[in-house]
Amino acid sequence: MTEKGKISATCWLAGALLAMAGSAGAAGADARSIVQQGNGHGAPACQACHGSDGKGLAAAGYPRLAGLHPDYLHKQLDNFASGTRQNAVMRPIAEALSPVERDAISLYYGGLPAAAPVTADASASTAAEDVGTVLATRGRWSQQVPACEQCHGPGGVGVGANFPALAGQPAAYLQAQLQAWKAGTRHNDPLELMQHLSAALSDADIAAVSRWFAAPSARPREQAP
Ligand code: HEC
Ligand code: HEC
Repeated sequence: MTEKGKISATCWLAGALLAMAGSAGAAGADARSIVQQGNGHGAPACQACHGSDGKGLAAAGYPRLAGLHPDYLHKQLDNFASGTRQNAVMRPIAEALSPVERDAISLYYGGLPAAAPVTADASASTAAEDVGTVLATRGRWSQQVPACEQCHGPGGVGVGANFPALAGQPAAYLQAQLQAWKAGTRHNDPLELMQHLSAALSDADIAAVSRWFAAPSARPREQAP
């Protein structure tokens, strides 16, 4: 090989390696580094609060993001930034993320494995029922409250981009969201579905149904997965 040939072969190889490194990281690189280290211009590392696996921090009431639909996650970041979902912690963080970063992070978390799978069928048994079970599985039609499972899926696994998973979220987090709709500080729900419904629930209802979705083992009528 001539000297010139060697150089161009080396250049080609370097170029190919760079291209490979680029494409291997293209989908995840940005997102992963923001999740682990922040974006360097205002958004801190997400994992500090949402956990290294994206499953949240139950003790602190920080929600799970892993396995939620990317479009839902993206919408929430937009909502925090615009203030239709008011939260002092997440607002500045969402504002510091560009649209491209919101996209990448939403895809990243959406692709992580969800929390514990919900396999048991809550409607299959007949033992004594608590308020949480009734609301979750049958609703309270006297107050026009449909069963949560009708929109959020069996056991709260989530349905498509619009109806987020409730299973595996900390009880304190679920409770805070229902109270936020009641108080009007979260008003980002399509057709005000959650605002109407939350308004009909008492504080005791909210606590009970939040516990039901947070802890499969707390459900009286089914086995923990
Ligand atoms: C200092 C702690 C903290 C950090 C850091 C943090 N979050 Fe959050 N995040 C929260 C809290 C608290 C909530 C719940 C807000 C509420 O009650 O509405 C939340 C909620 C969310 C939600 C809504 C989840 C849902 O189920 O609706 C998304 C999406 C989210 N955060 C994304 C991110 C991303 C992306 C990052 C990193 C760029 C990040 N968060 C960093 C504390 C944090
Ligand atoms: C008619 C459909 C419908 C029913 C029934 C319903 N929900 Fe929802 N729920 C929604 C939609 C839509 C959203 C997403 C709102 C948004 O885009 O932020 C939501 C979001 C939520 C959230 C926020 C999740 C998160 O990650 O922040 C909680 C908590 C919740 N619902 C609890 C309940 C409970 C508890 C019940 C039963 C008492 C219930 N929902 C019944 C439609 C419904």
